[in-house]
Amino acid sequence: MPEFQTNCTVVQVEHLGADIFRLTLEAPDIAEVVRPAQFVMVSCGTDQDPLLRRPFSVHGKQAGGRIQLLFKIVGRGTALLAQTRVGQDLSLVGPLGRAFRPPPPTGEVCLVGGGLGIAPLFFLAQRLLEQGRIPLVLLGAGSAVELRQLRQDFHELGCPVHLSTVDGSLGHHGLVTELLPALSDKVGKLYTCGPVPMMAAVARFCGDRIACEVSLETHMACGLGACLGCAIPVPGRSDAYWHVCKHGPVFDAAEVVWP
Ligand SMILES: Cc1cc2nc3c(=O)[nH]c(=O)nc-3n(C[C@H](O)[C@H](O)[C@H](O)COP(=O)(O)OP(=O)(O)OC[C@H]3O[C@@H](n4cnc5c(N)ncnc54)[C@H](O)[C@@H]3O)c2cc1C
Ligand code: FES
Repeated sequence: MPEFQTNCTVVQVEHLGADIFRLTLEAPDIAEVVRPAQFVMVSCGTDQDPLLRRPFSVHGKQAGGRIQLLFKIVGRGTALLAQTRVGQDLSLVGPLGRAFRPPPPTGEVCLVGGGLGIAPLFFLAQRLLEQGRIPLVLLGAGSAVELRQLRQDFHELGCPVHLSTVDGSLGHHGLVTELLPALSDKVGKLYTCGPVPMMAAVARFCGDRIACEVSLETHMACGLGACLGCAIPVPGRSDAYWHVCKHGPVFDAAEVVWP
């Protein structure tokens, strides 16, 4: 799988509400080969500060070699990224990591996203629809403002969407995992990304009944398998680690030691 270091021109900056932003970038090399759940390492500032690139999943693909990134301001890098202007170039390295694998040919497919974990699931939904599969989408967030635009985007794609918010301002009042028991028993594959406790609950729900893939978002310094800073334990082994940037970010739920 080729990887590129490339300068990409920003063609759209959207403020989706709260501290959430979406960038659309001209990135033809990356757009041609990237698959859902792969990520890019982004230089967020225009100089050496912050020194380290930050990892972001590819959120979506658009015609004309464009990719989208969806992010929330949580610190210095994302605050700088939110100040990006149309016409500016951003330096990206990618696509990196292992992608979600295709679902089995039969059975329903469900995507479960929490918070900014929703980002890679939109790209996965785009890919599934191209393949004639219509996934059911469950999205959870703190409050309505974080979900309104994304709900509309998934609807426009043609996906049924069920929502939950912790404050009850949109959809089910509570956690997105509380929507799982109502799923049809025809669901054969579930993909999830979001906070670790949420993914742990999804993995427990699936058990060995439903195939489940998770995309992990550990801290990453290099994204290239060099710094070993993204290590997580391999289940049943005291002497072995996965490196999320290389072996992941996608894992089968059973390949992860859940809290
Ligand atoms: C493979 C991968 C894909 C990702 N995709 C997205 C995405 O699509 N959209 C998005 O908004 N974010 C995504 N992230 C998380 C994103 O990389 C971090 O939010 C970002 O690096 C924070 O940079 P910062 O300089 O703003 O914050 P920092 O100043 O580095 O940190 C600010 C705070 O955020 C916490 N933090 C930083 N990185 C992470 C992390 N990876 N997980 C949990 N807490 C963290 C820090 O502990 C600290 O408390 C992804 C992470 C990975 C590993
Ligand atoms: S982030 Fe450096 S090895 Fe994974």
